[in-house]
Amino acid sequence: MNGQTDILNIIKNWRSIRKYKPDPVPENKIMAVLEAAQRAPSASNAQPWHFILIRDPETRKKLRKWALSQNMVAQAPVVVICCGDLDAFGQSRLRESLLHLVSAGAIEWSDEVIDNAILKNPVLAPFIEGPQQVFLAVVEQLSYAISFLCIEAINQGLGACIIGGVAKGKVPAMVELSRQIRETLELPENMIPLLAVTIGYPDESPGPRPRKPLEKIVSWEKYGGKR
Ligand SMILES: Cc1cc2nc3c(=O)[nH]c(=O)nc-3n(C[C@H](O)[C@H](O)[C@H](O)COP(=O)(O)O)c2cc1C
Repeated sequence: MNGQTDILNIIKNWRSIRKYKPDPVPENKIMAVLEAAQRAPSASNAQPWHFILIRDPETRKKLRKWALSQNMVAQAPVVVICCGDLDAFGQSRLRESLLHLVSAGAIEWSDEVIDNAILKNPVLAPFIEGPQQVFLAVVEQLSYAISFLCIEAINQGLGACIIGGVAKGKVPAMVELSRQIRETLELPENMIPLLAVTIGYPDESPGPRPRKPLEKIVSWEKYGGKR
């Protein structure tokens, strides 16, 4: 069996699933999906994420409102709320992550290099340039974890859909919805719910959605360069 081909086949079978059977998802499958997210890479191994599993129908109904009334959020037996952890890219937590990488033998930086070079370099230490850079870094890392999670969901014979359309604007109605969700999920200050992923057994089998041809999104050696 060729592992590379298997993974490419799984990826080629990816479709966002927006209709689910009511059947519950066995816990071992949920755990496999979460372990895939756990293994995702992140800058400085900061792992700035937290995943909240929602199976309770009442909570899913509340989440539907937060997800701009998208039905699959109430319908899918499992909704994973993907939260960004803003503290993970703060100075002390970032330092801790880097020291763990040193202990694991992944990097060979001394404490002095970490304190005087790495944690003073805005490319590596987003907190230097303020909350907006931290936010961007957190969102970026979350994408990798969600990609891993979704690929494993397909591998487990499940369907999934990433839900980015959630109340996060500054208009009063959205601010209030976000507040209610924070309260419902009992989120600490540093955790921001950024996206959700619905998971369950598919009750639809859509064909592949269009993608740009490779020639349009890839160049060789220079922009526009041909193979
Ligand atoms: C960051 C992100 C946010 C998304 N948000 C939503 C959403 O709120 N609702 C929805 O129905 N689909 C959402 N999608 C799914 C996309 O619409 C979908 O991936 C795209 O149309 C391609 O279709 P496919 O995933 O079936 O290949 C989102 C996808 C991503 C990556």
